[in-house]
Amino acid sequence: MTAHPVGLPDPDAGPRHVALIMDGNGRWAEARALPRAMGHREGVQALKRTVQAAPDFGIECLTVFGFSTENWRRPAEEVSDLMGLVRSYVASDLNRLEREGVRVRVLGRRTGLPADIAAIVERAERTTAHNSRFLLQVAFNYGGRADIVDAAQRYVDQLLAGQATGPLDEAALGAGLSTAGGPPVDLIVRTSGEQRLSNFLLWEAAYAELVYQNVLWPDYGAEALGDAVRQFRQRDRRFGAIAARPVLAAG
Ligand code: IPE
Ligand code: IPE
Ligand code: MG
Repeated sequence: MTAHPVGLPDPDAGPRHVALIMDGNGRWAEARALPRAMGHREGVQALKRTVQAAPDFGIECLTVFGFSTENWRRPAEEVSDLMGLVRSYVASDLNRLEREGVRVRVLGRRTGLPADIAAIVERAERTTAHNSRFLLQVAFNYGGRADIVDAAQRYVDQLLAGQATGPLDEAALGAGLSTAGGPPVDLIVRTSGEQRLSNFLLWEAAYAELVYQNVLWPDYGAEALGDAVRQFRQRDRRFGAIAARPVLAAG
């Protein structure tokens, strides 16, 4: 880990867990009259830069949105390009991630993924399972609603098998989500200027801070991440209670 970047005091203020909606690859490419696939390829470089930079800001966990349950609606060629990126990212980066103490976890539905991608995903998780310096969660074939439905189904299966009793509560449902066991999401960032969640981390977003940045994802890196962290540290998180700030006396 390098020295803490200047201008960002108080790394203890978090965020520990940052979730990124990596948006704008297509527009980045279109602005250069390039095929959209080139934007996705540059997006992988941006992901590598961002993962490298994150620990310098005190971040312990990054969750990135790589492919949504709705992205199957894209032309078959683009879907296949995006699957291909998983192959090349894992082929080129898994050893380094493993060496640098990064644990990789893939969120989302395995069913529906091409068999070789499912195998690659499992290999990445297995190879890095012992790492604990940093957690990289890649949401792939992930939808927030599908994840909640799957968690509910898991609970129903446990009930039917006699492994669970009593009314469903937040802890029991949360334990079935694909993010279970990870740190709570502090900050959700979306790039490209769009201001929506697009079915990302619906449950986990409950008390996350939201930051929207006008940078297209292929241009992302340490500087933009630092800016998002700075915005986060200026927020006053109340979690439904009242401000923790000292109240100034009147007059
Ligand atoms: C984000 O970039 C990558 C994925 C959704 C996989 P987009 O491909 O959505 O880029 P835009 O939004 O069309 O610019
Ligand atoms: C969300 O971006 C999915 C990922 C970043 C992987 P989209 O580009 O698919 O979202 P919409 O369609 O603009 O809402
Ligand atoms: Mg998009």
